[in-house]
Amino acid sequence: MPAITTQTPEEIARLQAKILELKKKLKAVIVAHNYQRPEVQDIADFVGDSLELSRKAKEVVDANEIIFCGVHFMAETAAILNPTRPVLLAEGTAGCPMADMIDAADLREWKEKYPRAGVVCYINTTAAVKAECDICCTSANAVGHYVSTKTKKKMILYPGFCITHKRLQAEQVRQAKEAHPEAVVLIHPECAPEVVALGDAVLSTSQMIRFAKESPAQSFLIGTEEGLLHRLKLENPTKTFYLMCNALVCPNMKRTTLDRVLKTMEEQRNRIIIPEDVRLKALRTVERMLAVV
Ligand code: 13P
Ligand code: SF4
Repeated sequence: MPAITTQTPEEIARLQAKILELKKKLKAVIVAHNYQRPEVQDIADFVGDSLELSRKAKEVVDANEIIFCGVHFMAETAAILNPTRPVLLAEGTAGCPMADMIDAADLREWKEKYPRAGVVCYINTTAAVKAECDICCTSANAVGHYVSTKTKKKMILYPGFCITHKRLQAEQVRQAKEAHPEAVVLIHPECAPEVVALGDAVLSTSQMIRFAKESPAQSFLIGTEEGLLHRLKLENPTKTFYLMCNALVCPNMKRTTLDRVLKTMEEQRNRIIIPEDVRLKALRTVERMLAVV
């Protein structure tokens, strides 16, 4: 499936109208991550980063169901936080390879090896892994190697990584800086440490949008998934954004198309089910994060 939409504007408008009509009928709320396709972001009631989507999911009380346009762990987090509403993942096969790099059994083994360590998980983890942790974090509050440079505590890092952000190379950042010396460099913390070190600011996706809005700078070099450019351009029409590497495309995020959103809603499929004992343990981990940020 091509990451860039090949449908005509008329087809897009027709599907969007159908989805919005059905959304009304179902009394559903549609939420989408900042990396979703532009035409999917445009039908969402709320578009945000992982932390904002978690907060939003918790607040949904006046809808019958949540249609989640993102990847599996995000829809799971919504279901952890809001057990009162069915959460349907718009595209059931959209997973996150980073979230799948560790499972609950791997983590239990690790905990046995380091029994005195507190356990922090990135939000890109399964509910079963969250259930084994003390607290969770997102790119908007902390992450991985980058956070270890900001604390004096000893950090033992599990070697997980994002296959998409890993594609951005330090040399590409250096070349982009040379070509656009006036531009401010915004890097996502999921990038490799040597890339993160070249950023003027290291930010989550929504933090990048806020930063670009508030900054007097007119141009920005972007080091994150290309889907973010849609909102960056929409919300900052007079500013210029350069993606530093064309390979910054997450294939899983791009699996959600308007056709899939419509089908999921029509057939009421891909409901996220989490065993209640796992959900309650994972909830404690996520709630602790929400209480401190
Ligand atoms: P944020 O939108 O929270 O910065 O996360 C990026 C990401 O890779 C989510 O999968
Ligand atoms: Fe996972 Fe990276 Fe894709 Fe986010 S961008 S869903 S972390 S693979």
